[in-house]
Amino acid sequence: MDKLIIEGAVPLKGTVTVSGAKNSALPLLAACLLTSERCRIKNVPNLRDVNTMIKILRSLGAQAEFSNGEVTIEAKNIKSFTAEYKLVSTMRASFCVLGPLLGRMKRAKVSLPGGCIIGVRPVDLHIKGIKALGAKVNIQAGYVDTEAKELRGAPMYLGGAFGSSVLATDNVMMAAVLARGKTVIESAACEPEVVDLANFLNKMGAKISGQGTPCIEIEGVRHLHGTDYQVIPDRIEAGTLILAGAITQGDCFIRGAFREHLSAALDKFQEAGIRIEDVDGGIRIRPRRALKPVNITTLPYPGFPTDMQAQIMTLMSVTPGISVITEKIYPDRFMHVAELNRMGANIMREGPHAIIEGKKSLSGAPVMASDLRASAALVLAGLVAKGRTEVSRIYHLDRGYENLELKLQKLGARIWREKE
Ligand code: EPZ
Repeated sequence: MDKLIIEGAVPLKGTVTVSGAKNSALPLLAACLLTSERCRIKNVPNLRDVNTMIKILRSLGAQAEFSNGEVTIEAKNIKSFTAEYKLVSTMRASFCVLGPLLGRMKRAKVSLPGGCIIGVRPVDLHIKGIKALGAKVNIQAGYVDTEAKELRGAPMYLGGAFGSSVLATDNVMMAAVLARGKTVIESAACEPEVVDLANFLNKMGAKISGQGTPCIEIEGVRHLHGTDYQVIPDRIEAGTLILAGAITQGDCFIRGAFREHLSAALDKFQEAGIRIEDVDGGIRIRPRRALKPVNITTLPYPGFPTDMQAQIMTLMSVTPGISVITEKIYPDRFMHVAELNRMGANIMREGPHAIIEGKKSLSGAPVMASDLRASAALVLAGLVAKGRTEVSRIYHLDRGYENLELKLQKLGARIWREKE
């Protein structure tokens, strides 16, 4: 296993380019199962999760090649409709092959994703949606086994106790595009990645409208054709890089960071005193004045993204004053708290709330990554801490950030990778 070594407190300077969005690329690749024709997806980040999705598509019989950020997929002969536990359990997002398999083959057997460190990860909304389209669903031996003689468009409400569901919206949309008749999804997820998927499906010949709003309408069509598509930039990586510039009092240009994808996060960053300028093609961070504490509640898009919660907690750890972060999407998503406290932060967890008393500085220490965004929070802490930080188990980081240490090195950070 690898670890990252960081010698902190260096102001970052220069330009860095955001990679393609992981949470867009994964459903886009799955959507290629909906046609027997060739699809080319560009600007795909080279991540562990992307390579896992490619393995799953190959296990179903699709041909898939990945080079220089471009994935070519041809799902001409699907030889299996079963996504095995051994692959799905390594990446919950694999569950989004359910919708396209059911849409194309009218049959799908996908391992239940199981829980992970950030939460239980239920799939009840996915099942509610495909049942509304007429699919029969049988859950046994840890698999969701579903089939349908025919899928028929239907109205449905997909909101859950924690609001809308990104991948449930994706799965239902991908099952509905080849259904007979009209589907209306109320309380659909509005994330930019859901919009990206809908736009890709429309380019394949689907008839989807309302993407980006809580009400998505899909007119079923008989056939989808192959097409080329470019993945949007990763707004969570962009937000992470913005905080890396801000926390080190740097002066950086984040190419590919767009305000419209990050408005809630940027609003909070500015409230905290980060100097942000919208520049052609990206966002510039200027050396900041004194930071101010902010209170954050994570919500479905366009609210503050849960995937930025750990990272802004690191910033608040070195912001004088008291900040409160409330996690409404994954109430247990606080594995980073104990590790940040090992670096001298003063964070107290109270149920879905974290109360942070900002300190003047953090001190470098050996810490352990636990999940993707917690890893990013620990890297940010290492960048601002005095002394040396070692972040172990960074395979978590490699799931969702493409060459993060190389990007930070380019901005002047003293960070490198070593074997554990
Ligand atoms: C997507 O996961 C993202 N992953 C997650 O990013 C992100 O944190 C999450 O959306 C929320 O924005 C991908 O897009 C691959 P949800 P998803 O269904 O779709 C509950 C990262 O760090 N829920 O929107 O699986 C669920 O428990 C990852 O990149 C149900 O109750 O999340 C959660 O509390 C982590 N029933 C809330 O809804 C369901 O059937 C939102 O989950 C489905 C979800």
